[in-house]
Amino acid sequence: MAILVVDLDRTRATPLGAQLSSQVRARITDGLLTPGERLPSSRALARELGVARSVTEQCYGQLVAEGWLEGRHGSGTFVAASGTVTRPTPPRPLVTPPDTSLLRLDSGTPWIDTRHRSAWRRAWREVSVATPPRGYDDPRGLPELRAELAVRLARTRGVDVHPDEVLVTAGTTDGLRHLMTALPPGHVAVEDPGYRAAVEAIRATGRQVVDVPALRPLTDLHSVVAAYVTPAHQHPLGPSMSGRDRLALLAAARAADALVIEDDYDSEFRYDVAPIPALASLDRDRVAYLGTASKAVAPSLRLGWLVAPAPIRERVERHRAAAHDAASWPVQRAFLSLLRDGYVDRVVRSARRVYADRAVRVAAALTPYVEAPVAGMYATVVLPRPLALAAHRDARDAGFDVPLLADYCRSADLHGLIVGFGGCTDVELDAALAVLSRVLRG
Ligand SMILES: Cc1ncc(COP(=O)(O)O)c(C=O)c1O
Repeated sequence: MAILVVDLDRTRATPLGAQLSSQVRARITDGLLTPGERLPSSRALARELGVARSVTEQCYGQLVAEGWLEGRHGSGTFVAASGTVTRPTPPRPLVTPPDTSLLRLDSGTPWIDTRHRSAWRRAWREVSVATPPRGYDDPRGLPELRAELAVRLARTRGVDVHPDEVLVTAGTTDGLRHLMTALPPGHVAVEDPGYRAAVEAIRATGRQVVDVPALRPLTDLHSVVAAYVTPAHQHPLGPSMSGRDRLALLAAARAADALVIEDDYDSEFRYDVAPIPALASLDRDRVAYLGTASKAVAPSLRLGWLVAPAPIRERVERHRAAAHDAASWPVQRAFLSLLRDGYVDRVVRSARRVYADRAVRVAAALTPYVEAPVAGMYATVVLPRPLALAAHRDARDAGFDVPLLADYCRSADLHGLIVGFGGCTDVELDAALAVLSRVLRG
């Protein structure tokens, strides 16, 4: 007969029966009570613990229902044969959690213009008084939002689309995952160095990533089913894809019947000339276009959009409908309100001015290692490896996490730093630049 050592606390809000069940369950899962072991009768246990019999009966009834105990008629209550489990080893974190004591100056954190808070508040107020859809909403996204996005894509990116062709997603990586479900089996080419989250998202679907050197024309896609590129602003090296390379890429995709996946993450933040039209504007049948609200509004919004060639789009739609996979309704509503309000345009305009100014400051501080970027919210500084490591280390000592270019490389052997200038104040940026400049000037 098993001896049950339990510790019931009458001052806790948890009922005694639930406390007892949880402790007996833990003894079983820890292997302290083994299959076949007999437990005291509910009456004897209640007497021993000084509780009402209903408490022990409730515990036994619960654990029998859960399959940890079994009652054998006339002979008592036993630990069930399948009652022990192997405790999983505690999961080890796959990714080191970010060190929050450091200010991360990365390529992905935008500057958020807090002067437009009233539009933000209005958007969420609108959400708060709206009635949510009764069932699962249209997995393609809110029709009004898709219409608004279609107009915006034509106006700002030169992509002429019907609202029915726009799918609202939970961001670029979400859109990329959807595309992976719709492509035939095969590998995917990704620029190297390139966007790490895209590599991760593709690999997580079981596909192999083929490294293709960034900034070199992609002229042969026969070994892959798709190529992921960042033509407006190569991530993380910076330049935009030339007109000639765009045409060569599209020709290669047609020849190999491959899909080009255009990640258009920060194209609106071009500050020397007007944003370069999207690659998708040249060939809607070959290019799947991924847009995001992460740069203009906030990465934490988790909202993006996907425009794909019809056969791929239909497969994505079918999969999303079957999987109840849609972007969050309140987030879509709020973003729709921000678009209609003109907030997104205002923020893009003011962020462009801020980035243009900061880009010049970065270049001045780190000259001659970098030229002033003309787009986006980061500057990539190519450096000899020891210098990159020294600058990275000194920046950390001063409280700044400035990512190493090598961390974005898979096969490529490139070194340097990615100096993000979106997610900080001017004062913080100047302090970080002072440290980096001191190291680079030796
Ligand atoms: C190259 C690239 N694409 C896309 C994104 C945005 O991804 P998401 O829309 O999933 O936030 C980022 C953000 O840092 C990026 O650097």
